[in-house]
Amino acid sequence: MTPAKYKSITVEQIARAMIATSLNRPGRSDVYHYPEMMRSDRHGAHIIHRMSRHITLSLMLLSMAGAALTAQAPQPAPPAPAVYANLNQLMRGVLYPAANVVFFPQFENPANVKQASDPGMATDPLTSTFGGWQAVENASLALAESTTLLLVPGRMCSNGVAAPVTDPQWVAFVQEVRDAGMEAYKAAQAKDQEKVSALSEKVSTSCEHCHRKWRRTQANRCK
Ligand code: HEC
Repeated sequence: MTPAKYKSITVEQIARAMIATSLNRPGRSDVYHYPEMMRSDRHGAHIIHRMSRHITLSLMLLSMAGAALTAQAPQPAPPAPAVYANLNQLMRGVLYPAANVVFFPQFENPANVKQASDPGMATDPLTSTFGGWQAVENASLALAESTTLLLVPGRMCSNGVAAPVTDPQWVAFVQEVRDAGMEAYKAAQAKDQEKVSALSEKVSTSCEHCHRKWRRTQANRCK
């Protein structure tokens, strides 16, 4: 858009101005107004007309090329998701409570859990509206989903060290939790108490693998 204080000029006027300045080169680079430039224009109108057609065509080709380039340009990468919790808080708030529900069938059959008197407000998923085996299914899925959060860049550990989220060993430990969670989900769907109990072992071992390497003393963790 041409700002209101400038007047728009036509393609033909641009062509005239180009010819005028090439025939009568200004002494120094400066801002010229169209009427000033035209004062020096004494030459053939038909050259100007042909040139203006060239410019129109070039502009058209340029805008077509621009459109093609835009279509082919790779999309910019979406911004990394924001991080709100440090690693300890993420573990306490998301992985730990989910894992405990997955561990429950080791001790009791989820089918026998009574619903809370107000299941819609229950704080224990097993006694909630989505309780019993469904709670174990959901907790297994929550564990599997939560592993994605363990890979978000920018997560800090409680001692101020960045979680090593791109370290191949870290990524492998995260994958262990994800796989164990998805296996537990399938066993929970089948309401197979023995199998979920065996998989609980696998889940806790997967947590332990990472803790053994990266959650030692407060000072050296995540290093
Ligand atoms: C890829 C590595 C990794 C995996 C996998 C992992 N953790 Fe952690 N976890 C850590 C680290 C590192 C810390 C310490 C974080 C900090 O200091 O901020 C931690 C801290 C914790 C804490 C907090 C302990 C405290 O003293 O407050 C809990 C609870 C926990 N993890 C549970 C789990 C459970 C349950 C699983 C498996 C379902 C799991 N973690 C899987 C790396 C991992």
